[in-house]
Amino acid sequence: MSRHTVAPAPTLRDAFTALGTARGRQDPYPLYEAIRSHGDTAWLKPGRLVVVGYEECDRALRDTRLHVQDAAGYDATSPGWRDHSSLRAFTSSMLYSNPPDHARLRAVAGFAFAPPKIRRLRSVIEGMADRLLDRMAALGVGGSPVDLIAEFASRLPVAVISALLGFPEEDQVWFRDMASTVAVSTDGFGDPAALERADRAMDEMTAYFTELVDRRRRDPHDDLVTLLTRVHDGDPRRLGHDELMGTLMVLLTAGFETTSFLIGHGAMLALERTAFAGRLRAESDFAPRYVEEILRFEPPVHVTSRRAATDTELLGAPVPAGTRLTLILAAANRDPRRFADPGRFDPDRPDNRPLSFGAGGHFCLGAPLARLEAQIALPRLFARFPRLAATEPPVYRDRWVVRGLDTFAVAVAG
Ligand code: HEM
Repeated sequence: MSRHTVAPAPTLRDAFTALGTARGRQDPYPLYEAIRSHGDTAWLKPGRLVVVGYEECDRALRDTRLHVQDAAGYDATSPGWRDHSSLRAFTSSMLYSNPPDHARLRAVAGFAFAPPKIRRLRSVIEGMADRLLDRMAALGVGGSPVDLIAEFASRLPVAVISALLGFPEEDQVWFRDMASTVAVSTDGFGDPAALERADRAMDEMTAYFTELVDRRRRDPHDDLVTLLTRVHDGDPRRLGHDELMGTLMVLLTAGFETTSFLIGHGAMLALERTAFAGRLRAESDFAPRYVEEILRFEPPVHVTSRRAATDTELLGAPVPAGTRLTLILAAANRDPRRFADPGRFDPDRPDNRPLSFGAGGHFCLGAPLARLEAQIALPRLFARFPRLAATEPPVYRDRWVVRGLDTFAVAVAG
Protein backbone atom coordinates (compact mmCIF):
# COMPACT_ATOMS: atom_id res chain seq x y z
CA MET A 1 0.00 0.00 0.00
CA SER A 2 1.43 3.43 -0.88
CA ARG A 3 1.89 6.07 1.82
CA HIS A 4 -1.12 7.96 0.53
CA THR A 5 -3.57 5.09 0.28
CA VAL A 6 -6.28 5.29 2.91
CA ALA A 7 -7.54 1.95 4.19
CA PRO A 8 -11.23 1.57 3.31
CA ALA A 9 -13.59 2.00 6.25
CA PRO A 10 -14.75 -1.42 7.44
CA THR A 11 -18.29 -2.38 6.60
CA LEU A 12 -20.69 -2.64 9.51
CA ARG A 13 -20.64 -6.41 9.29
CA ASP A 14 -16.81 -6.58 9.19
CA ALA A 15 -16.49 -4.26 12.20
CA PHE A 16 -19.06 -6.23 14.18
CA THR A 17 -17.55 -9.60 13.25
CA ALA A 18 -14.09 -8.35 14.28
CA LEU A 19 -15.40 -7.87 17.85
CA GLY A 20 -15.45 -11.65 18.08
CA THR A 21 -11.74 -12.00 17.26
CA ALA A 22 -8.85 -11.99 19.76
CA ARG A 23 -7.62 -8.69 18.31
CA GLY A 24 -11.05 -7.09 18.62
CA ARG A 25 -11.34 -8.24 22.21
CA GLN A 26 -7.93 -6.71 23.01
CA ASP A 27 -9.07 -3.27 21.85
CA PRO A 28 -12.72 -3.04 20.78
CA TYR A 29 -12.92 0.77 20.88
CA PRO A 30 -11.83 1.49 17.28
CA LEU A 31 -14.39 -1.09 16.14
CA TYR A 32 -17.12 0.71 18.10
CA GLU A 33 -16.25 3.89 16.23
CA ALA A 34 -16.32 2.00 12.92
CA ILE A 35 -19.81 0.76 13.84
CA ARG A 36 -20.85 4.29 14.89
CA SER A 37 -19.84 5.59 11.45
CA HIS A 38 -22.79 3.54 10.14
CA GLY A 39 -25.23 5.16 12.59
CA ASP A 40 -26.16 5.19 16.29
CA THR A 41 -28.42 2.29 15.49
CA ALA A 42 -27.62 0.11 12.49
CA TRP A 43 -29.18 -3.03 11.02
CA LEU A 44 -26.62 -5.84 10.77
CA LYS A 45 -29.21 -7.77 8.82
CA PRO A 46 -33.00 -7.97 8.93
CA GLY A 47 -33.99 -8.77 12.52
CA ARG A 48 -30.61 -7.81 14.00
CA LEU A 49 -29.99 -4.28 15.27
CA VAL A 50 -26.77 -2.99 16.81
CA VAL A 51 -27.05 0.08 19.04
CA VAL A 52 -24.09 2.30 19.98
CA GLY A 53 -25.75 5.69 20.72
CA TYR A 54 -26.18 6.77 24.36
CA GLU A 55 -29.77 7.93 24.09
CA GLU A 56 -30.74 4.95 21.95
CA CYS A 57 -29.20 2.44 24.41
CA ASP A 58 -30.80 4.23 27.36
CA ARG A 59 -34.26 4.16 25.70
CA ALA A 60 -33.87 0.52 24.69
CA LEU A 61 -32.90 -0.52 28.25
CA ARG A 62 -36.00 1.23 29.62
CA ASP A 63 -38.44 -0.11 27.00
CA THR A 64 -40.51 -2.85 28.63
CA ARG A 65 -41.40 -4.22 25.19
CA LEU A 66 -37.76 -5.16 24.75
CA HIS A 67 -37.08 -8.32 26.74
CA VAL A 68 -33.88 -9.83 28.10
CA GLN A 69 -32.81 -13.22 26.84
CA ASP A 70 -34.86 -15.80 28.76
CA ALA A 71 -35.48 -19.51 28.35
CA ALA A 72 -38.03 -18.88 25.56
CA GLY A 73 -35.55 -16.59 23.80
CA TYR A 74 -32.81 -19.22 23.94
CA ASP A 75 -35.27 -21.81 22.58
CA ALA A 76 -35.86 -19.57 19.58
CA THR A 77 -32.23 -18.70 18.87
CA SER A 78 -29.99 -21.46 20.26
CA PRO A 79 -31.33 -24.99 19.96
CA GLY A 80 -29.41 -27.30 22.30
CA TRP A 81 -28.79 -24.60 24.93
CA ARG A 82 -30.59 -26.68 27.57
CA ASP A 83 -27.71 -29.19 27.39
CA HIS A 84 -25.54 -26.55 29.06
CA SER A 85 -26.01 -26.25 32.80
CA SER A 86 -24.05 -22.98 32.83
CA LEU A 87 -26.71 -21.37 30.64
CA ARG A 88 -29.66 -23.16 32.26
CA ALA A 89 -28.83 -22.01 35.80
CA PHE A 90 -28.82 -18.32 34.90
CA THR A 91 -32.20 -18.46 33.15
CA SER A 92 -33.80 -19.05 36.58
CA SER A 93 -32.50 -15.71 37.84
CA MET A 94 -33.82 -12.12 37.61
CA LEU A 95 -31.13 -11.18 35.08
CA TYR A 96 -32.63 -13.57 32.53
CA SER A 97 -36.31 -13.04 33.45
CA ASN A 98 -39.04 -10.84 32.04
CA PRO A 99 -42.37 -9.63 33.43
CA PRO A 100 -44.10 -10.90 35.47
CA ASP A 101 -41.38 -13.17 36.97
CA HIS A 102 -38.69 -10.50 36.95
CA ALA A 103 -40.26 -8.22 39.59
CA ARG A 104 -40.94 -11.19 41.90
CA LEU A 105 -37.34 -12.48 41.64
CA ARG A 106 -35.82 -9.02 42.04
CA ALA A 107 -37.93 -8.24 45.12
CA VAL A 108 -36.77 -11.40 46.88
CA ALA A 109 -33.12 -10.31 46.97
CA GLY A 110 -33.46 -6.59 46.30
CA PHE A 111 -33.94 -5.39 49.89
CA ALA A 112 -30.45 -6.66 50.82
CA PHE A 113 -28.83 -4.32 48.26
CA ALA A 114 -30.78 -1.14 49.06
CA PRO A 115 -28.40 1.86 49.28
CA PRO A 116 -28.91 2.52 53.06
CA LYS A 117 -28.09 -1.14 53.83
CA ILE A 118 -25.03 -0.99 51.61
CA ARG A 119 -23.79 2.26 53.20
CA ARG A 120 -23.75 0.49 56.55
CA LEU A 121 -21.16 -1.95 55.19
CA ARG A 122 -18.50 0.75 54.80
CA SER A 123 -16.44 -0.10 57.89
CA VAL A 124 -16.65 -3.85 57.20
CA ILE A 125 -15.35 -3.31 53.65
CA GLU A 126 -12.61 -0.98 54.87
CA GLY A 127 -11.43 -3.68 57.28
CA MET A 128 -11.43 -6.29 54.52
CA ALA A 129 -9.50 -3.99 52.16
CA ASP A 130 -6.89 -3.24 54.82
CA ARG A 131 -6.33 -6.92 55.58
CA LEU A 132 -5.80 -7.64 51.88
CA LEU A 133 -3.37 -4.72 51.60
CA ASP A 134 -1.43 -6.12 54.60
CA ARG A 135 -1.23 -9.40 52.73
CA MET A 136 -0.01 -7.64 49.59
CA ALA A 137 2.65 -5.84 51.63
CA ALA A 138 3.88 -9.18 52.96
CA LEU A 139 3.88 -10.79 49.51
CA GLY A 140 5.72 -7.82 48.00
CA VAL A 141 8.57 -7.68 50.49
CA GLY A 142 11.93 -7.03 48.83
CA GLY A 143 10.31 -5.83 45.61
CA SER A 144 8.73 -9.20 44.66
CA PRO A 145 6.05 -8.60 42.06
CA VAL A 146 2.50 -9.08 43.31
CA ASP A 147 -0.50 -9.69 41.06
CA LEU A 148 -2.84 -6.84 41.97
CA ILE A 149 -5.83 -8.61 40.41
CA ALA A 150 -5.40 -11.98 42.13
CA GLU A 151 -4.42 -10.53 45.50
CA PHE A 152 -6.61 -7.45 45.79
CA ALA A 153 -9.00 -6.48 42.98
CA SER A 154 -10.67 -9.90 42.82
CA ARG A 155 -10.31 -10.85 46.49
CA LEU A 156 -12.16 -7.86 47.88
CA PRO A 157 -15.42 -8.31 45.91
CA VAL A 158 -15.46 -12.04 46.54
CA ALA A 159 -14.88 -11.47 50.27
CA VAL A 160 -17.70 -8.91 50.40
CA ILE A 161 -20.28 -10.92 48.45
CA SER A 162 -19.33 -14.12 50.31
CA ALA A 163 -19.86 -12.36 53.65
CA LEU A 164 -23.27 -11.09 52.51
CA LEU A 165 -24.38 -14.42 51.15
CA GLY A 166 -22.81 -16.37 54.01
CA PHE A 167 -20.18 -18.45 52.23
CA PRO A 168 -17.44 -19.78 54.50
CA GLU A 169 -14.21 -17.79 54.23
CA GLU A 170 -12.08 -20.82 53.41
CA ASP A 171 -14.13 -21.45 50.23
CA GLN A 172 -13.71 -17.96 48.76
CA VAL A 173 -10.77 -18.57 46.46
CA TRP A 174 -12.46 -21.72 45.14
CA PHE A 175 -15.60 -19.67 44.49
CA ARG A 176 -13.65 -17.01 42.68
CA ASP A 177 -12.10 -19.54 40.33
CA MET A 178 -15.37 -21.37 39.73
CA ALA A 179 -17.26 -18.12 39.14
CA SER A 180 -14.68 -16.96 36.55
CA THR A 181 -15.00 -20.25 34.71
CA VAL A 182 -18.79 -20.08 34.76
CA ALA A 183 -18.83 -16.46 33.60
CA VAL A 184 -17.51 -17.38 30.14
CA SER A 185 -21.03 -18.60 29.36
CA THR A 186 -21.98 -14.90 29.12
CA ASP A 187 -19.94 -14.84 25.89
CA GLY A 188 -22.38 -17.42 24.48
CA PHE A 189 -21.64 -20.37 22.26
CA GLY A 190 -18.43 -19.05 20.72
CA ASP A 191 -15.96 -21.41 22.40
CA PRO A 192 -17.33 -24.94 22.95
CA ALA A 193 -14.38 -26.03 25.15
CA ALA A 194 -14.82 -23.00 27.44
CA LEU A 195 -18.57 -23.67 27.59
CA GLU A 196 -17.91 -27.26 28.62
CA ARG A 197 -15.59 -26.08 31.41
CA ALA A 198 -18.30 -23.59 32.44
CA ASP A 199 -20.86 -26.43 32.60
CA ARG A 200 -18.59 -28.53 34.83
CA ALA A 201 -17.93 -25.56 37.14
CA MET A 202 -21.67 -24.82 37.28
CA ASP A 203 -22.42 -28.43 38.27
CA GLU A 204 -19.87 -28.24 41.07
CA MET A 205 -21.24 -24.94 42.31
CA THR A 206 -24.83 -26.18 42.18
CA ALA A 207 -23.85 -29.21 44.29
CA TYR A 208 -22.10 -26.88 46.74
CA PHE A 209 -25.07 -24.49 46.99
CA THR A 210 -27.53 -27.37 47.44
CA GLU A 211 -25.49 -28.65 50.34
CA LEU A 212 -25.07 -25.17 51.85
CA VAL A 213 -28.83 -24.48 51.62
CA ASP A 214 -29.47 -27.74 53.49
CA ARG A 215 -26.96 -26.79 56.17
CA ARG A 216 -28.54 -23.34 56.66
CA ARG A 217 -31.97 -24.98 56.92
CA ARG A 218 -30.71 -27.02 59.87
CA ASP A 219 -28.48 -24.30 61.31
CA PRO A 220 -29.69 -20.79 60.29
CA HIS A 221 -27.19 -17.90 60.13
CA ASP A 222 -27.67 -14.15 59.74
CA ASP A 223 -26.96 -14.22 56.00
CA LEU A 224 -28.63 -14.08 52.59
CA VAL A 225 -28.49 -17.83 51.93
CA THR A 226 -30.53 -18.42 55.11
CA LEU A 227 -33.00 -15.66 54.18
CA LEU A 228 -33.49 -16.91 50.62
CA THR A 229 -33.86 -20.49 51.87
CA ARG A 230 -36.60 -19.31 54.27
CA VAL A 231 -38.42 -17.53 51.42
CA HIS A 232 -38.27 -20.71 49.32
CA ASP A 233 -39.37 -23.00 52.15
CA GLY A 234 -42.17 -20.59 53.16
CA ASP A 235 -43.68 -20.42 49.68
CA PRO A 236 -41.98 -22.08 46.70
CA ARG A 237 -44.24 -20.02 44.40
CA ARG A 238 -42.33 -16.91 45.55
CA LEU A 239 -38.97 -18.56 44.94
CA GLY A 240 -38.71 -22.03 43.39
CA HIS A 241 -35.72 -24.31 43.95
CA ASP A 242 -34.11 -23.57 40.58
CA GLU A 243 -34.79 -19.87 41.14
CA LEU A 244 -33.07 -20.04 44.52
CA MET A 245 -30.03 -21.60 42.84
CA GLY A 246 -30.15 -19.10 39.96
CA THR A 247 -30.37 -16.17 42.39
CA LEU A 248 -27.35 -17.35 44.38
CA MET A 249 -25.43 -17.96 41.18
CA VAL A 250 -26.19 -14.56 39.68
CA LEU A 251 -25.41 -12.68 42.89
CA LEU A 252 -22.06 -14.40 43.13
CA THR A 253 -21.02 -14.13 39.49
CA ALA A 254 -22.59 -10.77 38.50
CA GLY A 255 -21.07 -9.17 41.55
CA PHE A 256 -17.52 -10.24 41.71
CA GLU A 257 -15.74 -10.28 38.34
CA THR A 258 -17.31 -6.99 37.31
CA THR A 259 -16.21 -5.26 40.50
CA SER A 260 -12.78 -6.84 40.27
CA PHE A 261 -12.43 -5.36 36.77
CA LEU A 262 -13.59 -1.96 38.02
CA ILE A 263 -10.92 -1.88 40.74
CA GLY A 264 -8.29 -3.28 38.34
CA HIS A 265 -9.00 -0.59 35.74
CA GLY A 266 -9.01 2.07 38.44
CA ALA A 267 -5.55 1.02 39.59
CA MET A 268 -4.21 0.76 36.04
CA LEU A 269 -5.47 4.20 35.00
CA ALA A 270 -4.09 5.87 38.13
CA LEU A 271 -0.68 4.29 37.53
CA GLU A 272 -0.73 5.52 33.93
CA ARG A 273 -1.79 9.00 35.02
CA THR A 274 -0.05 9.45 38.35
CA ALA A 275 -1.71 12.79 39.18
CA PHE A 276 -4.88 10.81 39.82
CA ALA A 277 -3.11 8.49 42.26
CA GLY A 278 -2.09 11.64 44.16
CA ARG A 279 -5.64 12.98 44.13
CA LEU A 280 -7.04 9.64 45.33
CA ARG A 281 -4.65 9.91 48.29
CA ALA A 282 -5.19 13.59 49.03
CA GLU A 283 -8.80 14.55 48.15
CA SER A 284 -11.42 12.79 50.24
CA ASP A 285 -14.24 13.58 47.77
CA PHE A 286 -12.36 12.57 44.61
CA ALA A 287 -12.96 8.79 44.67
CA PRO A 288 -16.69 8.88 43.66
CA ARG A 289 -15.91 11.06 40.61
CA TYR A 290 -12.90 8.96 39.72
CA VAL A 291 -14.88 5.70 39.96
CA GLU A 292 -17.70 7.11 37.81
CA GLU A 293 -15.20 8.02 35.09
CA ILE A 294 -13.58 4.55 35.19
CA LEU A 295 -17.05 3.11 34.76
CA ARG A 296 -17.60 5.30 31.71
CA PHE A 297 -14.17 4.93 30.16
CA GLU A 298 -13.47 1.23 30.84
CA PRO A 299 -16.80 -0.37 31.76
CA PRO A 300 -16.58 -3.96 33.02
CA VAL A 301 -19.74 -4.92 31.06
CA HIS A 302 -19.37 -3.92 27.42
CA VAL A 303 -22.55 -5.24 25.94
CA THR A 304 -25.98 -6.56 26.69
CA SER A 305 -28.88 -7.64 24.52
CA ARG A 306 -32.65 -7.44 24.18
CA ARG A 307 -35.32 -8.99 21.98
CA ALA A 308 -38.46 -7.17 20.83
CA ALA A 309 -41.41 -9.03 22.36
CA THR A 310 -43.85 -6.95 20.27
CA ASP A 311 -43.54 -4.28 17.60
CA THR A 312 -41.95 -1.18 19.13
CA GLU A 313 -39.86 1.82 18.10
CA LEU A 314 -36.58 3.36 19.09
CA LEU A 315 -36.59 7.16 18.94
CA GLY A 316 -39.20 6.97 16.22
CA ALA A 317 -37.59 4.20 14.14
CA PRO A 318 -39.70 1.02 13.91
CA VAL A 319 -38.37 -2.13 15.59
CA PRO A 320 -40.47 -5.15 14.54
CA ALA A 321 -41.33 -7.96 16.98
CA GLY A 322 -38.59 -10.60 17.13
CA THR A 323 -35.74 -8.15 16.45
CA ARG A 324 -32.58 -8.93 18.43
CA LEU A 325 -30.79 -5.85 19.69
CA THR A 326 -27.12 -5.75 20.67
CA LEU A 327 -26.69 -2.79 23.03
CA ILE A 328 -23.02 -1.80 23.23
CA LEU A 329 -22.88 0.06 26.54
CA ALA A 330 -19.14 0.72 26.22
CA ALA A 331 -19.76 2.49 22.90
CA ALA A 332 -22.72 4.46 24.32
CA ASN A 333 -20.37 5.67 27.08
CA ARG A 334 -18.19 7.23 24.38
CA ASP A 335 -21.00 8.76 22.34
CA PRO A 336 -19.70 12.23 21.34
CA ARG A 337 -23.28 13.58 21.33
CA ARG A 338 -23.50 12.84 25.07
CA PHE A 339 -19.90 13.18 26.34
CA ALA A 340 -17.56 15.97 25.25
CA ASP A 341 -14.19 14.62 24.05
CA PRO A 342 -15.29 11.08 24.96
CA GLY A 343 -11.88 9.45 24.40
CA ARG A 344 -10.33 11.60 27.13
CA PHE A 345 -10.22 10.22 30.67
CA ASP A 346 -11.53 13.07 32.81
CA PRO A 347 -12.94 12.39 36.29
CA ASP A 348 -13.97 16.06 36.54
CA ARG A 349 -16.37 15.91 33.60
CA PRO A 350 -19.80 17.31 34.55
CA ASP A 351 -23.03 15.29 34.54
CA ASN A 352 -21.20 12.01 34.13
CA ARG A 353 -23.85 9.32 34.00
CA PRO A 354 -22.49 6.36 32.05
CA LEU A 355 -24.69 3.37 31.18
CA SER A 356 -22.25 0.90 32.74
CA PHE A 357 -24.83 -0.47 35.20
CA GLY A 358 -27.59 -0.50 32.58
CA ALA A 359 -30.88 1.39 33.05
CA GLY A 360 -34.56 0.65 33.57
CA GLY A 361 -36.01 -2.48 35.14
CA HIS A 362 -32.79 -4.52 35.07
CA PHE A 363 -30.58 -1.69 36.37
CA CYS A 364 -27.74 -3.36 38.26
CA LEU A 365 -28.91 -4.44 41.69
CA GLY A 366 -25.35 -4.30 43.00
CA ALA A 367 -24.42 -0.83 41.69
CA PRO A 368 -24.30 0.83 45.16
CA LEU A 369 -22.16 -2.03 46.45
CA ALA A 370 -19.75 -2.04 43.49
CA ARG A 371 -19.32 1.73 43.70
CA LEU A 372 -18.69 1.62 47.44
CA GLU A 373 -16.11 -1.16 47.12
CA ALA A 374 -14.15 0.71 44.44
CA GLN A 375 -14.45 4.03 46.28
CA ILE A 376 -12.94 2.37 49.35
CA ALA A 377 -10.38 0.16 47.61
CA LEU A 378 -8.65 2.68 45.35
CA PRO A 379 -7.79 5.49 47.80
CA ARG A 380 -6.66 2.89 50.35
CA LEU A 381 -4.46 1.12 47.80
CA PHE A 382 -2.62 4.32 46.83
CA ALA A 383 -2.43 5.60 50.42
CA ARG A 384 -0.94 2.37 51.62
CA PHE A 385 1.55 2.04 48.74
CA PRO A 386 2.57 5.56 47.62
CA ARG A 387 5.30 4.10 45.40
CA LEU A 388 3.11 1.44 43.77
CA ALA A 389 4.43 0.72 40.27
CA ALA A 390 3.67 -1.70 37.44
CA THR A 391 6.42 -4.25 36.89
CA GLU A 392 4.87 -5.56 33.67
CA PRO A 393 2.11 -4.30 31.38
CA PRO A 394 -1.35 -5.43 32.52
CA VAL A 395 -2.85 -8.38 30.66
CA TYR A 396 -6.47 -8.29 29.50
CA ARG A 397 -8.65 -11.36 29.76
CA ASP A 398 -9.58 -12.61 26.30
CA ARG A 399 -13.27 -11.80 26.60
CA TRP A 400 -15.64 -9.23 25.21
CA VAL A 401 -18.93 -9.11 27.12
CA VAL A 402 -17.38 -8.80 30.59
CA ARG A 403 -14.00 -7.30 29.92
CA GLY A 404 -11.12 -6.51 32.23
CA LEU A 405 -7.65 -7.31 33.48
CA ASP A 406 -6.61 -10.87 34.08
CA THR A 407 -3.26 -10.07 35.69
CA PHE A 408 -1.42 -6.90 36.67
CA ALA A 409 2.00 -7.36 38.24
CA VAL A 410 3.03 -4.52 40.55
CA ALA A 411 5.75 -3.71 43.06
CA VAL A 412 4.31 -2.33 46.26
CA ALA A 413 7.44 -0.40 47.33
CA GLY A 414 10.23 1.07 45.24
C1 HEM B 1 -18.69 -2.66 38.51
C2 HEM B 1 -19.43 -3.65 38.82
C3 HEM B 1 -20.69 -4.02 38.11
C4 HEM B 1 -21.09 -3.75 36.83
C5 HEM B 1 -20.35 -2.96 35.77
C6 HEM B 1 -22.40 -4.34 36.66
C7 HEM B 1 -23.14 -4.23 35.51
C8 HEM B 1 -24.44 -4.66 35.38
C9 HEM B 1 -25.29 -4.42 34.24
C10 HEM B 1 -24.88 -3.68 32.97
C11 HEM B 1 -26.49 -4.97 34.49
C12 HEM B 1 -27.74 -4.90 33.60
C13 HEM B 1 -27.73 -5.91 32.50
C14 HEM B 1 -28.89 -5.72 31.55
O1 HEM B 1 -29.74 -4.85 31.72
O2 HEM B 1 -28.95 -6.50 30.58
C15 HEM B 1 -26.41 -5.60 35.78
C16 HEM B 1 -27.42 -6.29 36.38
C17 HEM B 1 -27.28 -6.93 37.58
N1 HEM B 1 -26.21 -6.85 38.46
FE1 HEM B 1 -24.52 -5.83 38.18
N2 HEM B 1 -22.74 -4.98 37.81
C18 HEM B 1 -21.74 -4.80 38.73
C19 HEM B 1 -21.71 -5.24 40.04
C20 HEM B 1 -22.68 -5.97 40.62
C21 HEM B 1 -22.70 -6.41 41.99
C22 HEM B 1 -21.64 -6.08 43.05
C23 HEM B 1 -23.81 -7.18 42.14
C24 HEM B 1 -24.37 -7.90 43.34
C25 HEM B 1 -23.86 -8.36 44.30
C26 HEM B 1 -24.52 -7.17 40.90
C27 HEM B 1 -25.70 -7.83 40.66
C28 HEM B 1 -26.49 -7.62 39.56
C29 HEM B 1 -27.79 -8.24 39.39
C30 HEM B 1 -28.47 -9.17 40.37
C31 HEM B 1 -28.28 -7.80 38.16
C32 HEM B 1 -29.62 -8.15 37.54
C33 HEM B 1 -30.65 -7.12 37.87
C34 HEM B 1 -31.98 -7.42 37.20
O3 HEM B 1 -32.02 -8.18 36.22
O4 HEM B 1 -32.99 -6.90 37.68
N3 HEM B 1 -23.81 -6.43 40.00
N4 HEM B 1 -25.16 -5.38 36.33
